[in-house]
Amino acid sequence: MTQVLVTGANGRTGRAIVQALARASSPRVPVQVRAFLRDAAQWPAIAALGASEHAIGDMADAASVARALQGCDALVHVGPPMHPDEKAMTANFVAAARQQQLRHFVYYSVLQPLRREVRHHRLKLETEELVVESDLPYTIVQPTRYMQHLENIWKPVTEQGVHGMPFSTRVRFNVADLADLAEATARVVVESAPGAARPGAHFFATYELAGPESLSQEDMARVLSEVLGRPVTARAVPLAEMQAKARTAGLGEDRIEQMTVMNRHYDAHGMRGNPNVLRMLLGREPTPYRQYVERLARR
Ligand SMILES: NC(=O)c1ccc[n+]([C@@H]2O[C@H](COP(=O)([O-])OP(=O)(O)OC[C@H]3O[C@@H](n4cnc5c(N)ncnc54)[C@H](OP(=O)(O)O)[C@@H]3O)[C@@H](O)[C@H]2O)c1
Repeated sequence: MTQVLVTGANGRTGRAIVQALARASSPRVPVQVRAFLRDAAQWPAIAALGASEHAIGDMADAASVARALQGCDALVHVGPPMHPDEKAMTANFVAAARQQQLRHFVYYSVLQPLRREVRHHRLKLETEELVVESDLPYTIVQPTRYMQHLENIWKPVTEQGVHGMPFSTRVRFNVADLADLAEATARVVVESAPGAARPGAHFFATYELAGPESLSQEDMARVLSEVLGRPVTARAVPLAEMQAKARTAGLGEDRIEQMTVMNRHYDAHGMRGNPNVLRMLLGREPTPYRQYVERLARR
């Protein structure tokens, strides 16, 4: 039995990974998921996704991290988004993993962390360095921007026919379906576990995980128009409007500043990538945008 600790397990990404790991478990390579949570009240929902047990802790608290990791064979570490302390938090997991001689450290990073202008990319780059220099068997996955960002603007898309994001309508992104990214991450764990055809198959690897198409907001709006059967137009939301909405939603000033820098960077460069590695890990074509939109529209 391979026991895997998943951090950030109550978040959007963590939940998808818990579910993907539970699905990837098999009689030949059985996997059990321990969810790292901040609050015991979160447990029933995460248990329903297939986790077997949970550990309560805070990523910033080294003692709780070490306790949570005890008896685990592998870790999938998903840090909180845009957090200024991501590197220090991950250092706690690296220290505990070294102490306990963890068999496999999987770090959920971001596509192209070398875009250092964006702070959380730079912090993930520095965190990757920590993981590599831990000398532990590691896999770093570098996921692209999620297709699921559409869900945040689903109401204006469906009610007003406007696809608005805070960057140019022309810059392109190789967005990916979070379900694919989670499945690929689960495969990295399971295919490296004892009992797999090639135990350790993904040790010491860094994988760029990008979606199958390079799409602009205009391309996305076109797909949405076709799937929904009514016109949807793309709109570059001004940064000031994005900031005001974020403040109304109660986000802190540091987070808003990071979102501003990130979206300014996206406005200039977008985020293109290559889907080869995601295709290899999934053993199939990654989900195209249209298929994701059709699934969302049915829901
Ligand atoms: N969104 C994207 O397109 C994208 C693309 C590539 C990579 N990523 C990366 O994916 C990661 C997760 O993003 P997400 O959108 O899934 O985030 P999320 O939904 O906000 O989830 C973050 C989780 O971390 C937990 N958490 C926060 N601080 C913690 C602490 N000090 N100790 C323990 N747990 C803590 C939160 O717990 P509570 O539930 O208790 O608040 C939450 O469950 C981020 O590192 C992000 O950079 C995202």
